[in-house]
Amino acid sequence: MGPSSRLLLVAFLVWVEGSSLHYSESRSSRLYPEKTFGRSIKDSQCQHMLKHLHNGARITVQMPPSVEGHWVSTRCEVRPGPEFLTRSYRFYPNNTFQAHQFYYEDNHCTKPIYTLVIRGRLRLRQASWIIRGGTEAEYQLHRVQMVCHTATVAKELSQRLNRSCRGAVKGAWEPNAMYELVSEEGDYDCTRELNFAMHELQLLRVEKQYLHHNLDHLVEELFLGDIHTDPSQRLYYKPSSYQTALQNAKNHDHSCIACRIIYRSDEFHPPILPPRADLTVGLYGQWVSQRCEVRPEVLFLTRHFIFHDNNHTWEGHYYHYSDPICKHPTFTIYARGRYSRGLHSNRVMGGTDFVFKVNHMRVTPMDVATTSLLNVFSGNECGVQGSWQFGVEQDVTITNGCVALGIRLPHTEYELFRMEQDAHGRYLLYNGQRPSDGSSPDRPEKRATSYQMPLVQCSSSSQPSDSSQRDDTDTPRLHPNDCTGWHRGGQKRAALAIATFVTALLLFWQS
Ligand SMILES: *[C@@H]1O[C@H](CO)[C@@H](O)[C@H](O)[C@H]1NC(C)=O
Ligand SMILES: *[C@@H]1O[C@H](CO)[C@@H](O)[C@H](O)[C@H]1NC(C)=O
Ligand SMILES: *[C@@H]1O[C@H](CO)[C@@H](O)[C@H](O)[C@H]1NC(C)=O
Repeated sequence: MGPSSRLLLVAFLVWVEGSSLHYSESRSSRLYPEKTFGRSIKDSQCQHMLKHLHNGARITVQMPPSVEGHWVSTRCEVRPGPEFLTRSYRFYPNNTFQAHQFYYEDNHCTKPIYTLVIRGRLRLRQASWIIRGGTEAEYQLHRVQMVCHTATVAKELSQRLNRSCRGAVKGAWEPNAMYELVSEEGDYDCTRELNFAMHELQLLRVEKQYLHHNLDHLVEELFLGDIHTDPSQRLYYKPSSYQTALQNAKNHDHSCIACRIIYRSDEFHPPILPPRADLTVGLYGQWVSQRCEVRPEVLFLTRHFIFHDNNHTWEGHYYHYSDPICKHPTFTIYARGRYSRGLHSNRVMGGTDFVFKVNHMRVTPMDVATTSLLNVFSGNECGVQGSWQFGVEQDVTITNGCVALGIRLPHTEYELFRMEQDAHGRYLLYNGQRPSDGSSPDRPEKRATSYQMPLVQCSSSSQPSDSSQRDDTDTPRLHPNDCTGWHRGGQKRAALAIATFVTALLLFWQS
């Protein structure tokens, strides 16, 4: 999306912000999400979990964020490539930072290969216009050093850098010794060769939340900017979404074992996480988001998936919002289709390939702007022309999807999945990160090499459970964990932005 459509989007969001006070609060919040799909799920455990995330009340966002302190990864992280790493970042009161990135050979972070120690200065700028709820920042690097953890890695890396980054390698490298990757005199800089940048520091967000409604149990999370899914774009990409959050080491979730191990580590004692077996991905039952997820460039959403493993079909509910705490709904999509399991990924250790097909879709506009947008589109491009009504679902399968939302049917996606159990024994499901360029993984070579934030299993049955007597205030609590979505992108955002902007203007001038 170019700068012009970004501007339009911003205008749109500013408008939505104002209008939501009048429309969303009074009408749609009650409709959402229970009513929309009332047919299938009446306050099941899954709906209950989504609803509690929708009110957003348990999370507070610090603006501007206070990043001072020591922040650590909560698990073995996967970056596009793939790269497996853990992070330990310290931000000091004098605006400098020291960041440790520990890299591993394996997907459970048990075999460290090398560590980068990055020092520099961070300056917070303004609240982000693009990613609402985020803060923009600038950074400067002062020093980047590397320690290799095995003799083999030391030899390989020094040979590689000796070819491409003369000057850094004055003799064969030894393990457990520190080497400069950027010379202070400026005669060499090996960070490019390693495809290394700290652009993640250009977008920040700090969230505080009290776990289990317990005022003694504060967890603070630091979200840093996302990394481009195409490694060749990494050095040029300005973040437009977030990575998995780091937790404040002082206020972390006590069940986080990785946090404690990483907190105590340094470049000569890299964290070695407890070994785990890869779980076989079992796609069955129902899965929901654990938080309001953000997609690159201003889409906020929550997801609810149902997998029927008896006949390999799936259903997905995507609840879209205009704001970062998922309070103001814009539209929902219900999609369904078939899926097939592939082999273990040969690119991403621990991942399993899948193919997903979407052949049926319904859309419900949930605010005035989106309703108008859908009505603006003419012909057989998105349901029956001009017939969209606020809060009323329409099948768009017959029009082969919805051009206004950038969705064409039938649609095939090449997926990557993995599964894990969290500290409380619940199953987490990770699926592939959406391409950062907004396209969709519609060819096998576009299959992801990293993951979105995990969904949590909310029911092991794919049938809606009827527990409508459930008291709204009971306690199945969500875990502080990150989540981002799973959703077809393409030209949607641009189309949506432009069209909504037009609509927004029309409505604005009329009101
Ligand atoms: C900033 O503070 C850190 C930690 O107290 C210290 O190690 C570092 O030298 C300071 N940097 C500057 C430029 O003052
Ligand atoms: C670096 O490359 C030069 C020239 O190819 C070679 O003579 C030297 O031994 C290499 N050094 C290391 C540490 O590999
Ligand atoms: C697949 O199975 C589920 C649950 O058993 C059922 O609800 C659904 O209609 C089936 N879908 C197809 C296409 O057979």
